[in-house]
Amino acid sequence: MNYGDLARRVRAHLNQDHRYEHTVRVARCADVLAQRHGADASRARLAGMLHDLARLYSDRRLLEESQAHGLHVAAFEREHPIVLHARLGAVIAAETFGVRDPQVLSAIEKHTTAAAVMSPLDCVVYLADSLEPGRTFAERAEFWELSMRDLREGMRATLALSIGHLTGQGRPIAPPTLAAAHAFGILGLSDKEARASAT
Ligand SMILES: [Fe+2]
Ligand SMILES: [Fe+2]
Repeated sequence: MNYGDLARRVRAHLNQDHRYEHTVRVARCADVLAQRHGADASRARLAGMLHDLARLYSDRRLLEESQAHGLHVAAFEREHPIVLHARLGAVIAAETFGVRDPQVLSAIEKHTTAAAVMSPLDCVVYLADSLEPGRTFAERAEFWELSMRDLREGMRATLALSIGHLTGQGRPIAPPTLAAAHAFGILGLSDKEARASAT
């Protein structure tokens, strides 16, 4: 399948202009970051195009389809089904779009919560999703430039900001995100967050 055909199929699957336009920006940003950091740009672009295939599913559909596909649904995911769109998206990428490349599927799976172990490609897609130009938070351009210079520092800054936002709103942090924060050496986690990430 060529890229134009892929884009048309993704657009039809998403069935929403807003989400499709975000997807295209993520794919472009992932391509640019991958080229900058010596990751595989075609894999990055493909993962970017396919990363949000389940993003518009209802909570009920996320849970039902995850269970139907045999995904283990963790307690946090049961309480916050939206995070399942990443792992379910990888299943759809494989089943409906024929993607078999484990590196691409890993990047799709980790794009929302990040994870304790992340390849450069995983980081590229996570950062492209977080820092694409449609995002409106104040630090976006600064963090993009940082990520272009240094992928690890980009991850540290972006993860720390995301965790800070969630904590500031009194929202819980997904265990894989806390594990990522520890893996990337982000300081300043509270004891409560550190305990949560250890479970
Ligand atoms: Fe997403
Ligand atoms: Fe996204």
